[in-house]
Amino acid sequence: MASLKTVLYLGVWLSAWIITTADENFVPKAENVRWVSLDFKTILVWTTNASDYKYTVSYHSEDPEWSQNPDCIRMSHSECDLTDHLRPLDRTYTVQIKTEPATVDYDDDLEDFPHSACPPFNPYRETNISAVNFTVEVVDESRVIVNITDPLSGIHELGKQLSLRDVFKKDLKYKISYYMSGSTGKRDIISNSSTAEVSKLNAGQSYCFMVAAFIPSRPKSSQQGAWSIQWCTLGDGNVLQGLSLAAWVGAVFILLTVLVIIVTVIVLCCKCCRQKNTSQSSAPV
Ligand SMILES: *[C@@H]1O[C@H](CO)[C@@H](O)[C@H](O)[C@H]1NC(C)=O
Ligand SMILES: *[C@@H]1O[C@H](CO)[C@@H](O)[C@H](O)[C@H]1NC(C)=O
Ligand SMILES: *[C@@H]1O[C@H](CO)[C@@H](O)[C@H](O)[C@H]1NC(C)=O
Ligand SMILES: *[C@@H]1O[C@H](CO)[C@@H](O)[C@H](O)[C@H]1NC(C)=O
Ligand SMILES: *[C@@H]1O[C@H](CO)[C@@H](O)[C@H](O)[C@H]1NC(C)=O
Repeated sequence: MASLKTVLYLGVWLSAWIITTADENFVPKAENVRWVSLDFKTILVWTTNASDYKYTVSYHSEDPEWSQNPDCIRMSHSECDLTDHLRPLDRTYTVQIKTEPATVDYDDDLEDFPHSACPPFNPYRETNISAVNFTVEVVDESRVIVNITDPLSGIHELGKQLSLRDVFKKDLKYKISYYMSGSTGKRDIISNSSTAEVSKLNAGQSYCFMVAAFIPSRPKSSQQGAWSIQWCTLGDGNVLQGLSLAAWVGAVFILLTVLVIIVTVIVLCCKCCRQKNTSQSSAPV
Protein backbone atom coordinates (compact mmCIF):
# COMPACT_ATOMS: atom_id res chain seq x y z
CA MET A 1 0.00 0.00 0.00
CA ALA A 2 2.80 2.33 0.96
CA SER A 3 4.67 1.57 -2.25
CA LEU A 4 1.52 2.24 -4.34
CA LYS A 5 1.24 5.63 -2.67
CA THR A 6 4.88 6.31 -3.43
CA VAL A 7 4.39 5.39 -7.07
CA LEU A 8 1.30 7.64 -7.21
CA TYR A 9 3.16 10.56 -5.68
CA LEU A 10 6.05 9.96 -8.01
CA GLY A 11 3.64 9.93 -10.97
CA VAL A 12 2.00 13.18 -9.92
CA TRP A 13 5.36 14.79 -9.29
CA LEU A 14 6.69 13.56 -12.65
CA SER A 15 3.74 14.85 -14.65
CA ALA A 16 3.91 18.17 -12.85
CA TRP A 17 7.59 18.32 -13.70
CA ILE A 18 6.93 17.42 -17.34
CA ILE A 19 4.20 20.08 -17.64
CA THR A 20 6.41 22.71 -16.04
CA THR A 21 9.44 21.95 -18.16
CA ALA A 22 7.25 21.67 -21.26
CA ASP A 23 5.93 25.17 -20.56
CA GLU A 24 9.45 26.39 -19.96
CA ASN A 25 10.53 24.94 -23.26
CA PHE A 26 7.64 26.21 -25.33
CA VAL A 27 7.32 29.71 -23.96
CA PRO A 28 10.58 31.68 -23.84
CA LYS A 29 11.08 33.92 -20.85
CA ALA A 30 11.76 37.62 -21.23
CA GLU A 31 15.51 37.99 -20.87
CA ASN A 32 17.87 40.76 -19.71
CA VAL A 33 15.08 42.48 -17.84
CA ARG A 34 16.37 45.84 -16.60
CA TRP A 35 15.34 49.31 -15.54
CA VAL A 36 16.21 52.37 -17.58
CA SER A 37 15.43 55.45 -15.58
CA LEU A 38 16.50 59.06 -16.14
CA ASP A 39 15.06 61.98 -14.17
CA PHE A 40 12.17 59.72 -13.05
CA LYS A 41 11.23 58.67 -16.58
CA THR A 42 11.27 54.97 -15.80
CA ILE A 43 10.99 52.20 -18.36
CA LEU A 44 11.30 48.48 -17.90
CA VAL A 45 13.01 46.87 -20.90
CA TRP A 46 13.85 43.31 -21.82
CA THR A 47 14.93 41.32 -24.83
CA THR A 48 13.30 38.49 -26.64
CA ASN A 49 14.23 36.68 -29.82
CA ALA A 50 10.81 35.14 -30.30
CA SER A 51 7.81 36.67 -32.01
CA ASP A 52 4.21 35.57 -31.42
CA TYR A 53 4.39 36.04 -27.66
CA LYS A 54 2.60 38.47 -25.39
CA TYR A 55 4.00 40.06 -22.25
CA THR A 56 2.23 41.22 -19.13
CA VAL A 57 4.08 43.34 -16.59
CA SER A 58 3.05 43.32 -12.93
CA TYR A 59 4.61 45.30 -10.11
CA HIS A 60 4.20 45.77 -6.38
CA SER A 61 5.96 47.28 -3.41
CA GLU A 62 4.77 47.07 0.19
CA ASP A 63 1.24 46.14 -0.81
CA PRO A 64 1.46 42.39 -1.58
CA GLU A 65 -1.19 42.80 -4.28
CA TRP A 66 0.31 42.93 -7.83
CA SER A 67 -0.70 45.95 -9.92
CA GLN A 68 -0.56 46.42 -13.66
CA ASN A 69 -0.16 49.24 -16.12
CA PRO A 70 -3.13 48.81 -18.51
CA ASP A 71 -0.77 49.59 -21.40
CA CYS A 72 1.47 46.66 -20.46
CA ILE A 73 -1.04 43.79 -20.47
CA ARG A 74 -0.62 41.20 -23.19
CA MET A 75 1.44 43.51 -25.33
CA SER A 76 3.85 42.43 -28.04
CA HIS A 77 6.68 44.95 -27.65
CA SER A 78 9.43 44.53 -25.11
CA GLU A 79 9.30 47.66 -22.99
CA CYS A 80 6.89 49.07 -20.46
CA ASP A 81 6.79 52.70 -19.32
CA LEU A 82 6.07 52.71 -15.58
CA THR A 83 6.80 56.43 -15.04
CA ASP A 84 3.24 57.26 -14.01
CA HIS A 85 2.68 54.09 -11.99
CA LEU A 86 5.45 53.77 -9.43
CA ARG A 87 3.86 55.81 -6.61
CA PRO A 88 4.90 56.73 -4.01
CA LEU A 89 8.32 57.30 -5.54
CA ASP A 90 10.32 56.37 -2.47
CA ARG A 91 9.38 52.69 -2.41
CA THR A 92 11.15 49.64 -3.69
CA TYR A 93 9.26 47.99 -6.50
CA THR A 94 9.41 44.38 -7.56
CA VAL A 95 8.29 43.44 -11.07
CA GLN A 96 7.60 40.32 -13.00
CA ILE A 97 6.94 39.73 -16.67
CA LYS A 98 4.71 36.89 -17.77
CA THR A 99 5.18 35.46 -21.22
CA GLU A 100 2.37 33.67 -22.99
CA PRO A 101 1.77 32.57 -26.57
CA ALA A 102 -0.19 35.09 -28.65
CA THR A 103 -2.75 32.42 -29.46
CA VAL A 104 -3.69 31.51 -25.90
CA ASP A 105 -7.27 32.14 -24.73
CA TYR A 106 -7.70 35.13 -22.49
CA ASP A 107 -9.30 32.96 -19.78
CA ASP A 108 -6.38 30.59 -19.51
CA ASP A 109 -4.66 30.63 -16.21
CA LEU A 110 -1.69 32.93 -16.68
CA GLU A 111 0.06 31.33 -13.72
CA ASP A 112 1.05 28.43 -15.96
CA PHE A 113 3.34 30.59 -18.06
CA PRO A 114 6.87 31.56 -17.16
CA HIS A 115 7.73 34.70 -15.26
CA SER A 116 10.88 36.75 -15.48
CA ALA A 117 12.01 38.82 -12.55
CA CYS A 118 14.26 41.84 -12.30
CA PRO A 119 16.21 43.41 -9.44
CA PRO A 120 13.94 45.59 -7.28
CA PHE A 121 13.98 49.31 -8.04
CA ASN A 122 13.40 52.45 -6.01
CA PRO A 123 12.85 55.47 -8.30
CA TYR A 124 13.62 58.06 -5.63
CA ARG A 125 16.94 56.47 -4.75
CA GLU A 126 18.02 55.04 -8.09
CA THR A 127 16.82 57.09 -11.05
CA ASN A 128 19.77 58.59 -12.94
CA ILE A 129 20.05 62.37 -12.95
CA SER A 130 21.00 64.14 -16.16
CA ALA A 131 23.50 66.98 -16.55
CA VAL A 132 22.20 70.38 -15.48
CA ASN A 133 22.36 73.76 -17.22
CA PHE A 134 23.82 76.72 -15.39
CA THR A 135 25.24 80.18 -15.90
CA VAL A 136 28.12 81.96 -14.21
CA GLU A 137 27.81 85.65 -13.47
CA VAL A 138 30.81 87.63 -12.31
CA VAL A 139 29.91 89.80 -9.30
CA ASP A 140 33.28 91.36 -8.62
CA GLU A 141 36.96 90.44 -8.75
CA SER A 142 36.69 87.65 -6.20
CA ARG A 143 33.09 86.47 -6.43
CA VAL A 144 30.81 84.80 -8.99
CA ILE A 145 27.22 83.61 -8.83
CA VAL A 146 26.50 80.16 -10.19
CA ASN A 147 22.87 80.01 -11.29
CA ILE A 148 21.60 76.46 -11.86
CA THR A 149 18.41 75.52 -13.71
CA ASP A 150 16.73 72.61 -11.92
CA PRO A 151 16.28 69.84 -14.54
CA LEU A 152 12.75 68.78 -15.39
CA SER A 153 11.61 65.34 -14.25
CA GLY A 154 9.58 62.86 -16.27
CA ILE A 155 6.70 63.32 -13.83
CA HIS A 156 3.58 65.29 -14.62
CA GLU A 157 1.16 66.31 -11.94
CA LEU A 158 -2.04 68.28 -12.55
CA GLY A 159 -0.86 69.05 -16.07
CA LYS A 160 2.47 70.44 -14.87
CA GLN A 161 5.86 68.87 -15.48
CA LEU A 162 7.66 68.73 -12.15
CA SER A 163 11.29 69.75 -11.80
CA LEU A 164 13.76 67.70 -9.81
CA ARG A 165 13.48 70.37 -7.11
CA ASP A 166 9.70 69.74 -6.91
CA VAL A 167 10.39 66.03 -6.37
CA PHE A 168 13.51 66.01 -4.17
CA LYS A 169 12.78 69.29 -2.34
CA LYS A 170 15.47 69.82 0.33
CA ASP A 171 17.21 66.56 -0.56
CA LEU A 172 18.46 68.10 -3.81
CA LYS A 173 21.82 69.84 -3.55
CA TYR A 174 24.39 70.69 -6.17
CA LYS A 175 28.06 69.94 -6.29
CA ILE A 176 30.04 72.79 -7.86
CA SER A 177 33.55 71.88 -8.92
CA TYR A 178 35.93 74.65 -10.00
CA TYR A 179 39.59 75.27 -10.65
CA MET A 180 41.81 78.19 -11.52
CA SER A 181 43.00 77.80 -15.08
CA GLY A 182 46.60 76.71 -15.15
CA SER A 183 46.38 74.97 -11.78
CA THR A 184 45.57 71.32 -11.27
CA GLY A 185 43.86 71.69 -7.89
CA LYS A 186 40.07 71.36 -8.02
CA ARG A 187 37.74 72.57 -5.29
CA ASP A 188 34.27 71.21 -4.64
CA ILE A 189 31.49 72.98 -2.81
CA ILE A 190 28.03 71.67 -2.03
CA SER A 191 25.19 74.13 -2.47
CA ASN A 192 21.78 73.64 -0.86
CA SER A 193 20.07 75.91 -3.34
CA SER A 194 20.06 76.38 -7.10
CA THR A 195 21.87 79.71 -6.80
CA ALA A 196 25.28 79.70 -5.15
CA GLU A 197 27.94 82.30 -4.58
CA VAL A 198 31.54 81.23 -5.00
CA SER A 199 33.87 83.65 -3.24
CA LYS A 200 37.55 84.09 -2.37
CA LEU A 201 38.63 83.81 -6.00
CA ASN A 202 41.95 85.32 -7.01
CA ALA A 203 41.51 88.65 -8.76
CA GLY A 204 42.40 88.72 -12.43
CA GLN A 205 42.46 84.93 -12.77
CA SER A 206 40.21 82.83 -14.95
CA TYR A 207 38.24 79.99 -13.40
CA CYS A 208 36.30 77.06 -14.85
CA PHE A 209 33.12 75.66 -13.27
CA MET A 210 31.20 72.40 -13.54
CA VAL A 211 28.00 71.41 -11.75
CA ALA A 212 26.28 68.11 -10.92
CA ALA A 213 23.10 67.38 -8.99
CA PHE A 214 23.97 65.85 -5.62
CA ILE A 215 21.58 63.97 -3.35
CA PRO A 216 23.39 63.06 -0.10
CA SER A 217 20.40 61.09 1.25
CA ARG A 218 20.86 58.48 -1.49
CA PRO A 219 23.20 55.48 -1.48
CA LYS A 220 26.78 56.44 -2.42
CA SER A 221 26.65 54.96 -5.92
CA SER A 222 23.69 57.09 -7.02
CA GLN A 223 24.30 60.31 -5.09
CA GLN A 224 25.72 62.29 -7.95
CA GLY A 225 24.11 63.17 -11.29
CA ALA A 226 25.99 63.61 -14.56
CA TRP A 227 28.51 66.46 -14.76
CA SER A 228 27.46 69.50 -16.73
CA ILE A 229 29.54 71.07 -19.44
CA GLN A 230 32.18 73.48 -18.23
CA TRP A 231 31.93 77.29 -18.14
CA CYS A 232 34.95 79.48 -17.67
CA THR A 233 35.38 83.08 -16.61
CA LEU A 234 38.09 85.24 -18.08
CA GLY A 235 40.20 87.31 -15.72
CA ASP A 236 38.62 90.48 -17.08
CA GLY A 237 35.10 89.66 -15.91
CA ASN A 238 33.83 88.01 -19.10
CA VAL A 239 32.47 84.48 -19.25
CA LEU A 240 33.33 82.04 -21.99
CA GLN A 241 30.14 80.24 -22.79
CA GLY A 242 30.30 76.49 -22.95
CA LEU A 243 33.85 76.23 -24.30
CA SER A 244 36.68 75.33 -22.03
CA LEU A 245 39.79 77.46 -21.90
CA ALA A 246 41.75 74.71 -23.64
CA ALA A 247 39.35 74.88 -26.58
CA TRP A 248 39.83 78.64 -26.87
CA VAL A 249 43.59 78.31 -26.70
CA GLY A 250 43.33 75.65 -29.42
CA ALA A 251 41.18 77.90 -31.63
CA VAL A 252 43.58 80.81 -31.25
CA PHE A 253 46.52 78.54 -32.03
CA ILE A 254 44.86 77.26 -35.22
CA LEU A 255 44.05 80.82 -36.33
CA LEU A 256 47.66 81.89 -35.75
CA THR A 257 48.96 78.89 -37.68
CA VAL A 258 46.69 79.68 -40.64
CA LEU A 259 47.84 83.33 -40.53
CA VAL A 260 51.52 82.32 -40.52
CA ILE A 261 50.97 80.01 -43.51
CA ILE A 262 49.16 82.73 -45.48
CA VAL A 263 51.89 85.29 -44.75
CA THR A 264 54.62 82.80 -45.69
CA VAL A 265 52.91 81.98 -49.00
CA ILE A 266 52.48 85.69 -49.87
CA VAL A 267 56.10 86.45 -49.01
CA LEU A 268 57.36 83.50 -51.08
CA CYS A 269 55.19 84.48 -54.07
CA CYS A 270 56.41 88.06 -53.97
CA LYS A 271 60.03 86.93 -53.83
CA CYS A 272 59.33 84.61 -56.77
CA CYS A 273 57.69 87.39 -58.87
CA ARG A 274 60.44 89.84 -58.12
CA GLN A 275 63.10 87.35 -59.18
CA LYS A 276 61.23 86.66 -62.44
CA ASN A 277 60.90 90.40 -63.13
CA THR A 278 64.58 91.01 -62.47
CA SER A 279 65.71 88.20 -64.77
CA GLN A 280 63.30 89.34 -67.53
CA SER A 281 64.40 92.96 -67.36
CA SER A 282 68.06 92.09 -67.29
CA ALA A 283 67.91 89.70 -70.26
CA PRO A 284 67.82 92.22 -73.18
CA VAL A 285 70.71 94.27 -71.84
C1 LIG B 1 22.23 54.82 -14.82
O1 LIG B 1 23.35 55.12 -15.63
C2 LIG B 1 24.36 54.10 -15.60
C3 LIG B 1 25.54 54.61 -16.39
O2 LIG B 1 25.15 55.13 -17.61
C4 LIG B 1 23.78 52.82 -16.16
O3 LIG B 1 24.74 51.81 -16.12
C5 LIG B 1 22.59 52.41 -15.32
O4 LIG B 1 22.00 51.27 -15.88
C6 LIG B 1 21.57 53.54 -15.28
N1 LIG B 1 20.51 53.16 -14.35
C7 LIG B 1 19.25 53.28 -14.65
C8 LIG B 1 18.29 52.88 -13.61
O5 LIG B 1 18.86 53.73 -15.72
C1 LIG C 1 16.49 32.45 -28.16
O1 LIG C 1 17.91 32.48 -28.06
C2 LIG C 1 18.42 31.51 -27.18
C3 LIG C 1 19.92 31.66 -27.08
O2 LIG C 1 20.31 32.90 -27.58
C4 LIG C 1 18.08 30.13 -27.69
O3 LIG C 1 18.54 29.15 -26.74
C5 LIG C 1 16.57 30.01 -27.83
O4 LIG C 1 16.27 28.76 -28.40
C6 LIG C 1 16.04 31.11 -28.72
N1 LIG C 1 14.61 31.02 -28.75
C7 LIG C 1 13.91 31.09 -29.88
C8 LIG C 1 12.46 30.92 -29.75
O5 LIG C 1 14.46 31.26 -30.94
C1 LIG D 1 19.82 72.68 -21.14
O1 LIG D 1 19.58 73.66 -22.15
C2 LIG D 1 19.45 73.11 -23.45
C3 LIG D 1 19.30 74.23 -24.44
O2 LIG D 1 19.00 75.43 -23.84
C4 LIG D 1 18.26 72.17 -23.47
O3 LIG D 1 18.15 71.58 -24.76
C5 LIG D 1 18.47 71.08 -22.44
O4 LIG D 1 17.33 70.23 -22.42
C6 LIG D 1 18.69 71.67 -21.08
N1 LIG D 1 18.99 70.61 -20.16
C7 LIG D 1 18.43 70.51 -18.97
C8 LIG D 1 18.85 69.36 -18.16
O5 LIG D 1 17.63 71.34 -18.58
C1 LIG E 1 19.04 82.61 -12.74
O1 LIG E 1 18.58 82.30 -14.04
C2 LIG E 1 17.20 82.48 -14.20
C3 LIG E 1 16.83 82.04 -15.60
O2 LIG E 1 17.93 81.84 -16.42
C4 LIG E 1 16.83 83.92 -13.97
O3 LIG E 1 15.44 84.09 -14.09
C5 LIG E 1 17.26 84.30 -12.56
O4 LIG E 1 17.00 85.68 -12.35
C6 LIG E 1 18.73 84.03 -12.36
N1 LIG E 1 19.06 84.27 -10.96
C7 LIG E 1 20.13 84.96 -10.59
C8 LIG E 1 20.34 85.11 -9.14
O5 LIG E 1 20.90 85.45 -11.40
C1 LIG F 1 22.54 73.08 3.92
O1 LIG F 1 21.55 72.26 4.50
C2 LIG F 1 22.03 71.49 5.60
C3 LIG F 1 20.89 70.62 6.08
O2 LIG F 1 20.18 70.11 5.02
C4 LIG F 1 22.51 72.41 6.72
O3 LIG F 1 23.03 71.65 7.77
C5 LIG F 1 23.58 73.34 6.18
O4 LIG F 1 23.96 74.27 7.15
C6 LIG F 1 23.08 74.06 4.93
N1 LIG F 1 24.17 74.83 4.36
C7 LIG F 1 24.05 76.11 4.03
C8 LIG F 1 25.26 76.76 3.45
O5 LIG F 1 23.01 76.74 4.16
